[in-house]
Amino acid sequence: MIIDNLKDSAAYISKKLGKERYEYALVLGSGLGDLADEIENPIVIDYHDIPHFPISTVPGHKGRLVAGRLEGKSVIAMQGRFHFYEGWSMDEVVYPIRVFKLLGLEKLILTNAAGCVNKEWKPGSLMLITDHIKLIAESPNRGPNIDELGERFFDMSEAYSKEGRAKVEEAASSLGIDLKKGVYMMFAGPNFETPAEVRFARIAGADAVGMSTVPEAIAASHMGMKCIGISCMTNMAAGILDQKLNHEEVLETGERVKKSFQALIRETVRRW
Ligand code: HPA
Repeated sequence: MIIDNLKDSAAYISKKLGKERYEYALVLGSGLGDLADEIENPIVIDYHDIPHFPISTVPGHKGRLVAGRLEGKSVIAMQGRFHFYEGWSMDEVVYPIRVFKLLGLEKLILTNAAGCVNKEWKPGSLMLITDHIKLIAESPNRGPNIDELGERFFDMSEAYSKEGRAKVEEAASSLGIDLKKGVYMMFAGPNFETPAEVRFARIAGADAVGMSTVPEAIAASHMGMKCIGISCMTNMAAGILDQKLNHEEVLETGERVKKSFQALIRETVRRW
């Protein structure tokens, strides 16, 4: 039973963490991973060592939890997340989020790199996710419901916490960051979208396209965990500019705005 595995994983982590109660889970997207290196008094746990945890076989992939303090708050960060496009099942993608819930974490901060669909914005913009569209069929909650975590049918009308979003907006204005707000649409990847798919996303009401975050937000809603999401627009989505997309641009833009993205996460953690 998956719930037994989740409990095993949580028990192992809990033993490593000791008595401290943790409040925030941080999922660090492309280029943001080194924020975990700034966590104070870190306790580091390799995914490899956690019973039943998905284990990445990608060489050079950093896969570890870093628990400690950030801005005076107790956080557990995932350095390395599991993407659907890597071949993980949706259950595996959200496995850590479910373990976090069992560990008593109440707040989840999701970050990602995304393609910018909104033509008014530029690469490097940060977007607070107000809502999402799951384009693909799979859901992390397909299959037998895990009753201990939540109900079979659950509400998604506030998938991204209103209160949490207000804190991100306050954090951004205190830092002078021109934070955008919009809708994130998840594609399965690993290919970037076609120009027609990007036009479709725009007509459907999306401002950004990406390959992550949505499964984690769904699992969080199921479990009644408060969640927020922030996207870094690393590139204009396909077909907007007369140029091809490549991963280098994604990494370069991520690197360019890393400082303000990290500052925004820190300030959010401080205020929320
Ligand atoms: N599409 C999907 N995912 C992405 C993109 C994109 O253009 N850029 C960064 N992640």
